[in-house]
Amino acid sequence: MPVVVSMLNSYSGWAAASAGFMLSNNLLIITGALVGSSGAILSYIMCRGMNRSFANVIFGGIASAGGGGGSGESKGVEDCQVVQAAQVADLLRQAKKVAIVPGYGMAVARAQHGVSRLTQKLRDEDTEVYFGIHEVAGRLPGHMNVLLAEARVPYDIVLEMDEINSDLPETDVVLVIGANDIVNPAAQEVPDSPIAGMPVLEVWKAQTTIILKRSMATGYAGVDNPLFYRENSRMLFGDAKESISAVLAGLRA
Ligand code: TAP
Repeated sequence: MPVVVSMLNSYSGWAAASAGFMLSNNLLIITGALVGSSGAILSYIMCRGMNRSFANVIFGGIASAGGGGGSGESKGVEDCQVVQAAQVADLLRQAKKVAIVPGYGMAVARAQHGVSRLTQKLRDEDTEVYFGIHEVAGRLPGHMNVLLAEARVPYDIVLEMDEINSDLPETDVVLVIGANDIVNPAAQEVPDSPIAGMPVLEVWKAQTTIILKRSMATGYAGVDNPLFYRENSRMLFGDAKESISAVLAGLRA
C-alpha cells in the first residue's frame, strides 16, 4: 500500500507539471516535477527493499490473497529456546558489542523510548551498541528512523543494513525488537519462499540472537521464520515495551 500511495503521489506531481506546461507557469512545472520525481524515487527504493518489481507489488497481492496480513500461527514454540528478561540482561551484561534491529513490532508496542534508555544504559557500561535499519522495516519509509530520532537515539549509531551486515559475525548479542520478515534467513536459503531474494539483515551470524515478540506469529509477508529455531536464537516473548523494561530492570539490579 505505501508503494501505491507514493506512486499516486508521484502521478499528482507529474499532472501538476503538465498543467504548468499548458499554463506556461514555471513554478508549477518545477514543483510538479519535484513531487513527481521524489514519489517515483521513493517507490523505487521500497520495491528494491522488497526485491520486487512495481508490477509484482501491485498485482502480486491479488494473485496471493491472504499473504499480506500476517498473523497466522506457524511452527510450535516447543521448537525454540525461550528465555526470560533476567537471562537477556545477563547476556547483555557480558556482551562487548550489541546490535539492535527494530521492526514493525517496536512501533506497535511504542517501545522506542525504552529502547533508547536501554541503549544509554549499555553505552554507560562501555558496551558498543549500534542499530541496523532495513529499508522496509515497519510499514512506512523511514518508519524506524523517525521513531528512534523521536526517542533521541544518536544518529551516528543508526546504520543501514548494508553497513552492518559485515559486522554481525563479530557481534555478541543482537536484539531483534518486533522484526520478522527483515531478518528471515529463508529469503536467502529457500528459493521458493515468497520473500526469496529480498535483502535481509543477517542477524543469525551473531553469537546470540534474541527475538522479542509476543507469539510465533508470522510477519507481514505471512511466511514462517527459520531464525526462531536456530541453535543461537533465543525467544523473549511478550509485548516489546514490557520486555525492554524488564530487561532494563534486570540490568539495573
Ligand atoms: P513484520 O515482518 O511485519 O513483523 C513484525 C513483528 O512484530 C511480528 O512478527 C509481530 O509478532 C511483532 N509484533 C507486533 N506487535 C508487537 C508487540 N507489541 N511487541 C512485540 N512484537 C510485536 O515487520 P518487519 O520485520 O518490520 O518487516 C516489515 C514488513 O512490512 C516487510 O515484509 C515489508 O516488506 C513490509 N512492508 C513494509 C513497507 C515499508 S515502506 N516499510 C511497506 C509495505 C510493506 P507477534 O505478533 O508474535 O508479536
